[in-house]
Amino acid sequence: MIKHKKIVAISGSIREGSSNTNILKALATFIPEGIDYCIYPGIKELPHFNPDIDGTEPPAVVANFRKTLAESHALIICTPEYAKSVPGVLKNALDWLVSSGELYKKPVAVITASPSVAGGDKAHESLLLTLGMLDTIIVEHGSLLVPSVGIKFNDNATVKDESTKQALINLIDSVVAAINK
Ligand SMILES: Cc1cc2nc3c(=O)[nH]c(=O)nc-3n(C[C@H](O)[C@H](O)[C@H](O)COP(=O)(O)O)c2cc1C
Repeated sequence: MIKHKKIVAISGSIREGSSNTNILKALATFIPEGIDYCIYPGIKELPHFNPDIDGTEPPAVVANFRKTLAESHALIICTPEYAKSVPGVLKNALDWLVSSGELYKKPVAVITASPSVAGGDKAHESLLLTLGMLDTIIVEHGSLLVPSVGIKFNDNATVKDESTKQALINLIDSVVAAINK
């Protein structure tokens, strides 16, 4: 039986109709056949990180999150910027992975998208620092800012801006190359 490579995606926005989640949905159209791609739906269920409840038997939602990432070959994060940083829900999810190591040397791509012209640059910078601490590998073309996001996508998660589309294709190509290496 052929085992498919798996890419997991995480949106830093848990908002219904999120533009960041829409970007991750749009990415699905660029994933080559034979590679599984899923947007992890559960980061909003994770409890606040607390070392006291981590250990041999962490909460089931945490164990499921870690298992999903352990079984993945690459991670794509797409997030808004909140108050010049990473949304708490995403930072909390990453905090759960610091000691357990599922992202160690894993290929990762990072997208920040914002209605502003800066494209969430502060969140982007902060996220890269966190991912560096987790010893991930940021793939070539895997660090993308999407400014003025509102005019670049249709509501049904299709890209209408050609250069954004090309940047997303390059990002996926790099992730796929990294997991096929
Ligand atoms: C509490 C809050 C703080 C925000 N802070 C920033 C910010 O610092 N920088 C920025 O570019 N946008 C900021 N925004 C605007 C978000 O980028 C915008 O709401 C975006 O659409 C959220 O992403 P989503 O559509 O994926 O939910 C903020 C929004 C909220 C609700």
